[in-house]
Amino acid sequence: MAIEKVLPASSLQGSLVLPGDKSISHRYGMLAGLAEGTTRLSNFSTGADPHSTLACMAALGATVENKGTHIEVTGVGGEFQQPDAPLDCGNSGSTMRMLSGLIAPHPHTFTLIGDHSLTLRPMERIRRPLSAMGARMELVDGHAPITIYGGPLAAIDFETPIPSAQVKTAVLFAGLQAQGTTSLSEAIRTRDHSEHALRAFGATLTRENNRLSIAGGQKLHAIDATVPGDLSSAAFFLCAALLFPDSNLILDSLGMNPTRSALLDVVTALGGKVRILNVEETHGEMVGTIQVNAGPSSLRGPLEIRGALTAQLIDELPVLAAIAPYMPSGMIIRDAKELRIKESDRIDLVARNLRAMGATFTEFEDGLEIPGGQTLHGATIDSGSDHRIAMAFAIAALRATSENTIEGAEAAAISFPEFFTHLKTLCKN
Ligand code: S3P
Repeated sequence: MAIEKVLPASSLQGSLVLPGDKSISHRYGMLAGLAEGTTRLSNFSTGADPHSTLACMAALGATVENKGTHIEVTGVGGEFQQPDAPLDCGNSGSTMRMLSGLIAPHPHTFTLIGDHSLTLRPMERIRRPLSAMGARMELVDGHAPITIYGGPLAAIDFETPIPSAQVKTAVLFAGLQAQGTTSLSEAIRTRDHSEHALRAFGATLTRENNRLSIAGGQKLHAIDATVPGDLSSAAFFLCAALLFPDSNLILDSLGMNPTRSALLDVVTALGGKVRILNVEETHGEMVGTIQVNAGPSSLRGPLEIRGALTAQLIDELPVLAAIAPYMPSGMIIRDAKELRIKESDRIDLVARNLRAMGATFTEFEDGLEIPGGQTLHGATIDSGSDHRIAMAFAIAALRATSENTIEGAEAAAISFPEFFTHLKTLCKN
């Protein structure tokens, strides 16, 4: 188990180009694997999770080559082959859920496995729509390992019961290859990278209010693309910038998809001065450069994160909770029960680590209420092998009164292997 020691800092200064977005890398990797032709992907995520996706695509018959400057994926032209071993999704829920939809229409038997944490995560949420389309899927008590007996699928009209972009994507990927037109409605709009990625690879899909429709039998074609920098990785440094009055952080080539960028509004509410220096669109995704400085917050009461906002910020909640005690306003996070079934029980781990650092707060089944203006001390942090917990508490450590020891720091590599190196470069002691 790797240990990282993080000392209190006095300032955060510098500029960064973030590695490619994890969510977009998964989608480009999967669609490239299915498409006809050779896709070239620059700034592909360096995280272990999207590389689990690429390994699965190779096992399904795609050719995946790391060319140094970019990744090349030559797709199977619409027909996956029977893999000769289980598809190993590692720690990646995105791989397991989205891939299930992508491969279910293919006439083979697939087994999807993952690490211990992935085996604890709920998979019934994808079995339900995919079996309504005619896929035969076996789970073990609602969990992985998953066995899919693939074959022709029929379109469905599906209403997502939980806001989940992974479930939406599984249905869209299956619908792309089903007979008829699949429709899907979501009450809370989730990240729309799959919609943009499908269009980029040549598919047609339509949205009317909250209802998406995709016709089956569409073929995909290879693309050249640069993956935008990962805003959920940038979140750690954006939150760190709020901790010091003279912070100056410039993030270049950053993904700013509006379904992901609620964090920028939250950073602004907490006192950050966020300036967008430039922005452009590539394959439907907004990409740009931002500058962030700290300033006083205009909030009168605690920052409240609930309902749709909670769903939009789901991956950023651990780091927001980790800086909450230092914010004068404090923070209320509710409707976040999903956090308990991520790579770890993130509410429990945030609570345990905040407690270890001496914070006071109230824990709920669906969130936390954290008073502001607190002073925290250094402690031994348990990452629970969860990348976002390891990184969130490395940020909390920057304003503690003494050194923090992050146990299980290697988990950061799941999404952001360069995190601790960047932290050391940006933070001044
Ligand atoms: C993701 C969707 C979210 C998010 C995860 C990535 C995606 O999960 O937490 O890190 O790429 O679609 P859910 O779909 O379970 O909400």
